[in-house]
Amino acid sequence: MPIADETSPDASALAQLLRWYADMGVDAAIDAAAHDRFAETAAAKTAIREQIHEPRPPRPPATRQPPTAAPHKAKPVVAPLAADVVVQSAAEAAASAQNLDELRAKLLAFDGCGLKATATQLVFADGNPEAPIMFVGEAPGADEDRIGRPFVGRAGQLLDKMLAAIELDRSKVYIANIVPWRPPGNRTPTPLEAAACLPFLRRQIALVNPKILICLGKPSCHTLLPTKDSMMRLHGRWFDYDVDGFTILALAMLHPAYLLRTPAQKGLAWADLRALAKKMKTLGINF
Ligand code: URA
Repeated sequence: MPIADETSPDASALAQLLRWYADMGVDAAIDAAAHDRFAETAAAKTAIREQIHEPRPPRPPATRQPPTAAPHKAKPVVAPLAADVVVQSAAEAAASAQNLDELRAKLLAFDGCGLKATATQLVFADGNPEAPIMFVGEAPGADEDRIGRPFVGRAGQLLDKMLAAIELDRSKVYIANIVPWRPPGNRTPTPLEAAACLPFLRRQIALVNPKILICLGKPSCHTLLPTKDSMMRLHGRWFDYDVDGFTILALAMLHPAYLLRTPAQKGLAWADLRALAKKMKTLGINF
């Protein structure tokens, strides 16, 4: 055991440092090796685009390059291949699930998303799988990670109040997230994490087959809808969401966690809820 000298931090200094890390949101040791997040992000964006938004643009025809004087040693690019492989294996696993129980089991067995390693447990869904309305949030937080159900913390309590405002509750809706594992420190899921989990979420949406899909907040809207507009432009707008050969109406809505941070915007959320209630009436959804 190393002998402490006068330059070694004492236990209380180390405890203070750990507390500071926790306060800053660093609550899990992830990896000893550095990652090229830029390459991962580029690869994940391509994977998401190929899954739902648009086919990969055609490559320009190969041109013959004149030989260069000094041979250039290319840096191996590992991440794009890894992202492709992860997304492919996720797509195969998700497609083979014939019902939500099987999908949950496939996710439990899936090791392609790094979030699984730091989360306490899978947070698959809550609510009624037969419901005509499905909400998709961002990611589980600390409370959801502990309890194993989405939207059980403060944002979830506000979501319950928003539902109640238009006579809905969890027995009438189904709730899931873009990623089913808590990101350390509640950070936003990276594009690679979202891409790895997307085939499962798309299969979950297809199996629930709601009449209306609500995308709560920016990560949900930007992952599921073909837009990168800000939430101020997006909220209240309707989209067509295509999955497994059918089209579902999708509404962009402000996330309850955003409304907790910015209560002055609750009026905007109320307008979105009224738009949802009106659409439910038009579609003959009543309970
Ligand atoms: N809890 C969730 O389950 N999802 C969110 O997006 C926020 C809180």
